[in-house]
Amino acid sequence: MPNSIIMKHLLGIKELSPAKIGEILDTAANFKEVINRPIKKVPSLRDVTIANVFFENSTRTRLSFELAEKRLSADVINFSASGSSVKKGETLLDTVNNILAMKVDMIVMRHSSVGAPHFLAKHISANIINAGDGTHEHPTQALLDAFSVREKLGEIEGKKIVIVGDILHSRVALSNIFAFQKLGAEVMVCGPITLLPKHIRELGVKVELDIHKALQWCDVANVLRIQLERQQIKYFPSLREYTLYYGINKAMLDSLDKEIVVMHPGPINRGIELSSDVADSEHAIILDQVENGVAVRMAVLYLLAGQVS
Ligand code: CP
Repeated sequence: MPNSIIMKHLLGIKELSPAKIGEILDTAANFKEVINRPIKKVPSLRDVTIANVFFENSTRTRLSFELAEKRLSADVINFSASGSSVKKGETLLDTVNNILAMKVDMIVMRHSSVGAPHFLAKHISANIINAGDGTHEHPTQALLDAFSVREKLGEIEGKKIVIVGDILHSRVALSNIFAFQKLGAEVMVCGPITLLPKHIRELGVKVELDIHKALQWCDVANVLRIQLERQQIKYFPSLREYTLYYGINKAMLDSLDKEIVVMHPGPINRGIELSSDVADSEHAIILDQVENGVAVRMAVLYLLAGQVS
């Protein structure tokens, strides 16, 4: 296994060089082979203690981090804000410092506030992995997405990737844009104009409002969830109307003159952004993304653990 990465935290994809991303993906490929063996566990992180600190709900990210940590033989503790002393008014920094007082080496954190892991990185000495900060970044999701595209199509360089839907509220969108561009893909965003950030073109992405044109252009469509919980105002008249204009169904894919790959970070709003006949079709690699999440998170943990202080 390579272990040359010099990186104390994983806060976002923005800070990563293409070479570092490549190193993480190559390391993940090795771990994917390991976790498909009858004996899936390796001793790499024995005596390293990791806390998964989640201030927002999660299924895939929390469970795959926990599984990745256990496959690497780390000691693991899990914290959810609901049911914790956060409810009694304890601050983020006090909460994390109390967890670290129990001799924890690494923090995996999801938080609803943009920049929460960056703030922590300035105040604590443990390694921090951003498991999603508000509408900002979700770096391990982008890494597993890149890994999944590379696995499916052989390479990312030169591929056309469209990110569809609620770009405005999505941390997956920003991390995907950074990751795919750094790896040489062309990136487009497609959605209702109200769900596209005003200055999105400054990131070097193409913008397309017509989903049919976007699907005809792309090799891969990464379809995002409409994040109603982050929408304080109405961005479109109704979910029915959103589905009418931006929902992807099998008939739309069949009308293309090529095969495309469909991705979704989950959780899916079935029947809204994706119909079930697409989500469950041979076009979709949604469960491959979830499977790859364990190997990618093992790679990130392993590479950062080389920097445990
Ligand atoms: N993709 C993703 O972050 O899913 P969870 O919210 O379930 O972790």
